[in-house]
Amino acid sequence: MKISIIGGGHVGATCAFLIAQKELGDVVLVDIVEGLPHGTALDMMQSSSVEKFDKKVHGTNEFKDICDSDLVVVTAGLARKPGMTRLDLLAKNSQIIKNVTENIVKFAPNAKIIMVTNPLDVMTYLALKVSGFEENRVFGMSGVLDSARFKHFIADELDVSIDNVSALVVGSHSELMVPLPRFSSISGIPLVELLSKERINHIVERTKRGGAEIVAYLKNGSAFYAPAASAAKMVEVVVRNKKEVLPACVYLEGEYGLNSICLGVPVKIGKDGIEKIIELSLNSEERAALNESAESIKESIKSLSLLEI
Ligand code: LAC
Repeated sequence: MKISIIGGGHVGATCAFLIAQKELGDVVLVDIVEGLPHGTALDMMQSSSVEKFDKKVHGTNEFKDICDSDLVVVTAGLARKPGMTRLDLLAKNSQIIKNVTENIVKFAPNAKIIMVTNPLDVMTYLALKVSGFEENRVFGMSGVLDSARFKHFIADELDVSIDNVSALVVGSHSELMVPLPRFSSISGIPLVELLSKERINHIVERTKRGGAEIVAYLKNGSAFYAPAASAAKMVEVVVRNKKEVLPACVYLEGEYGLNSICLGVPVKIGKDGIEKIIELSLNSEERAALNESAESIKESIKSLSLLEI
């Protein structure tokens, strides 16, 4: 397996390290900053005798080095600064993602693309359209991250093992994401049996602001451990053909009554990428929230054409 990561910032580098540690494949780390990917990769390789991994991490400024990758994880782009929404990033990051995608098409035409760059749902859509790849090969990381945050807050609130918690967040990777308490449980026990409505609401709201809470603390950057772990998890599921059901940002054509949009929903992921989209029977409140989420992404997708992307 050859796994390329575009963007050698905190998310890309941490993801590369996790992939190497898990021995999922050889990693190519690409960044435009001279020396950054080279130094980062060399540092990781020097940890290999301690961490005991046999895979190679190669740092480069050249897109051609991604040639024939099986998977490309795209983290390139600007991160959010305090006060910025993910959509504020749209104009700048869409230029970057268009260029990155064209290079993936040129050098790694058979790869699957895992999008991490924000605004994630729109960037996934852009990569799908620019690449012309099949819909199962282009998907975004959002739901794994948002659900990971939701799970952490639930485990913390109930003081139970994180291993016992199953929880689901769908919709956009934004404040309009849709955590689904009705589809969340602790060792099979519905969350609603164990927590009051008030506490669930508190956790839901904190999950929606999960990224922003960290941006506010860090001041000059965005979260990277949980985003990188989530991307590496998706790589693992593809590489090991695990057929796990995870929420991911995928192209919808009729599912959930939505069309021509990339949005987070539960899917089955294996070696072919997205193998199945799972349609939940949402109640009217959940469906309204999902539609609101979808509307905001549709607006951003429209603005891509205004920006002449
Ligand atoms: C976050 C950014 C990476 O949610 O979108 O932390």
